[in-house]
Amino acid sequence: MWFGSFSAFLVITDPDYAKVLLGRGDPKDNISYKHLVPWIGNGLLILHGPKWHQHRKLLTPGFHYDVLKPYVALMAESTNVMLDKWDKLIADGRPVELFEHVSLMTLDSIMKCAFSCHSDCQTNRKNTYIQAVYDLCHMVDQRLRIFPYHNDIIYWLSPHGFQFRKACRIAHDHTDKVIQERKESLKDEREFEKIQKKRHLDFLDILLCAKDENGAALSDEDLRAEVDTFMFEGHDTTASGISWLFYCLATHPEHQQRCREEIQGILGDRETIRWEDLGKMPYSTMCIKESLRLYPPVPGVSRQLSKPITFPDGRTLPEGSVTAISIYLIHRNPKVWKDPLFQVFDPLRFSPENVSGRHSHAFLPFSAGMRNCIGQQFAMNEMKVALALTLLRFELLPDPATPPLKITRIILRSKNGIHLYLKKIR
Ligand code: HEM
Repeated sequence: MWFGSFSAFLVITDPDYAKVLLGRGDPKDNISYKHLVPWIGNGLLILHGPKWHQHRKLLTPGFHYDVLKPYVALMAESTNVMLDKWDKLIADGRPVELFEHVSLMTLDSIMKCAFSCHSDCQTNRKNTYIQAVYDLCHMVDQRLRIFPYHNDIIYWLSPHGFQFRKACRIAHDHTDKVIQERKESLKDEREFEKIQKKRHLDFLDILLCAKDENGAALSDEDLRAEVDTFMFEGHDTTASGISWLFYCLATHPEHQQRCREEIQGILGDRETIRWEDLGKMPYSTMCIKESLRLYPPVPGVSRQLSKPITFPDGRTLPEGSVTAISIYLIHRNPKVWKDPLFQVFDPLRFSPENVSGRHSHAFLPFSAGMRNCIGQQFAMNEMKVALALTLLRFELLPDPATPPLKITRIILRSKNGIHLYLKKIR
């Protein structure tokens, strides 16, 4: 695949090759990830080598289930705000474009979980930080699509480059302020137990309390990079996952109904969902996985080989080659997904019997190996919470007049949004 006239990616669609590539520690390529750096800095997504190792080790405790547990209530709160909005919107009987609503919901949720920041961004779009994050996601996509903008001088002198810098300043000022304020408040209580007695631990607490084996904490620049990285990685991806899941269930009412019955069976008359419920949703989990197979929010990852590679079949690639591991194409590779209807939405592909014996790298929504997604448990929880609360309140129906048009803009989106009819059931 050519990127402009000078850069070529070798696209990998076979899980055997993906397994070898993801098992090595090659760095990310310098074409697709570099436009994110002025915003998210050198955080976990971009770093490589010993510094990546150090950060990954420091940040892993931030995804321990003790930390994730109280997030369920925050995710439910954010989902309910979105559903209340939908309640009002459907009064005119028209379909709703979900993607933008879901994006604001997941942004609201990560803000609460990561920063304990209640921004009201779903109802109040005047918050300059939220607007900046939203704009930055769009501008990173835009820069990747407009080839002359790959050149730094052209981009930074263009009106879009100017807007990007302005939005970055707003985002960085906000992140710096939040970090400084939290640092002040943590001065006397740098221990998890003391913080936990007062309120739930958030991601920022973990970052600020993190120390390596030599007692070294993260620098201010590193802290900011990690917070901005999680803000980006932690909301756009889940928004895509949830929106495509709703589309799959709208177009497959029989599976939607089975999920609803499963959720009603767990929750009974309760209107909210708890941590313990999330492990009791096997059918819904299979539907989420099948939707992630057909519509992986991160459709591909890429690597630049730091040394030559020889695959088990004897083929080789030289040092410096750029490989794009297409998660999307691996998920639809008929050689792996033996069923001739490999494009069909069939949650039972993820039943325990069907999973056993499948290639370890046939299903890679969160990538694999040491650079896999650190937020996958967070993401799965958020998808389950959003699915459960939504299906209890609404029936999802497709809008045949506006089918989604898949498009990759770093993450998998729809060119024309995702339009569904919502019928109130509770
Ligand atoms: C459905 C939702 C999500 C999907 C499909 C997803 C997918 C991925 C994939 C494929 C990668 C590998 C990227 C690469 O190699 O370039 C990745 C990395 C990462 N993800 Fe996620 N992600 C999701 C949600 C999240 C969430 C909620 C967070 C944070 C709260 C998060 C944080 C990260 C970080 C920090 C990395 C870099 C990890 C490293 O290199 O050590 N992700 N994600």
